[in-house]
Amino acid sequence: MEVYAPGVVKLFGEHAVVYGKTAVAIAITQYAKAEVQGGKPGAVEMRLLDFGGISIALKWEDMAKICKIYRARKDIEGFVESIRGVDHRLLPYVVIASRMAVENGGRVGGARIEISSQIPVKMGVASSAACSTAFAVALANFAGLKLTDAQMIEIARDGERIVHRNDEAGKIDVSGSYFGGCVSYNDAYGARRVAVKSKMDVLLVNSGPKKPTAETVRHVAELNKSNGEYVKVLLEQIEECTRRGLEAIESGDRNGIGKLMTENHKLLTALGVSNESLDKVVALSEAGGAYGAKLSGGGGGGLAIVLPKDDVGRLVHMLNRSGFDTYAADVSEKGAKDYVGAANG
Ligand code: MEV
Repeated sequence: MEVYAPGVVKLFGEHAVVYGKTAVAIAITQYAKAEVQGGKPGAVEMRLLDFGGISIALKWEDMAKICKIYRARKDIEGFVESIRGVDHRLLPYVVIASRMAVENGGRVGGARIEISSQIPVKMGVASSAACSTAFAVALANFAGLKLTDAQMIEIARDGERIVHRNDEAGKIDVSGSYFGGCVSYNDAYGARRVAVKSKMDVLLVNSGPKKPTAETVRHVAELNKSNGEYVKVLLEQIEECTRRGLEAIESGDRNGIGKLMTENHKLLTALGVSNESLDKVVALSEAGGAYGAKLSGGGGGGLAIVLPKDDVGRLVHMLNRSGFDTYAADVSEKGAKDYVGAANG
């Protein structure tokens, strides 16, 4: 049985969501896949096809031990350091499987799961979140677990906690990949599908190499420690942008959505998570007549998202001539949730 989970781009609120604010994302038609079949009795075996097939097989005792250490962690950084003998690229899946096993009385054994992805990595389109989400849904399906949407999202977020070294990570990326379409998340109401009035196709623009999201998330945390008042003001302004952005999405006001995306980008620049190249893409997009543009996700490079007007050809030409590759991205209405409960075999 196969589970597909889409990549996501963030329209509003990345970074702010780590501090309890609202974020909005759309799922795009690029997918991570988890394929599950029967394996060694009692064990969960996982294999990463995109990394030369590195794999690990965990027995119940291994999973119980890892889950115990994970639950007792003081911080994620310390937890990751304390786990020896496991390739750290496998750790997100190891933790998800271990927690799922322990929280469900060991009922996840006998599974063999292969993970692969067509989503570009380290570009700001949530490739790691999509892999964790596909994996969590595949394993829960295999074991016949009946988890609520909130439980599925919470457990898949463990993957992002490990990847981004932050306990608050993965709220918007996992929610978007799980539900598909347009999704908002905040700590008060959790994840919600957003009704979209206008078409939400976006243009993705490669601004160049990207810093790891863990690094930009850490930058904001350090700034928050050293200059909490500044960060607080910026996060409040981002939240206001997101609130108005959601209204614009729900009323089909593409002009309003674009303007607010650009405003959100400028606030992210003030937060220190943009770079010259991303700022240039945003400035070119504004000059080229787009509704708006911004970085997506962790920032520090990677893909910018542009909300284009209908005559996108001129803008694409202009961006290409300035050395930036562009890709059209369609919205994926399907998310990993569409595969929940899919039959084995
Ligand atoms: C990364 O795609 C989005 C961030 O808000 C981090 C997170 O929410 O986990 C920067």
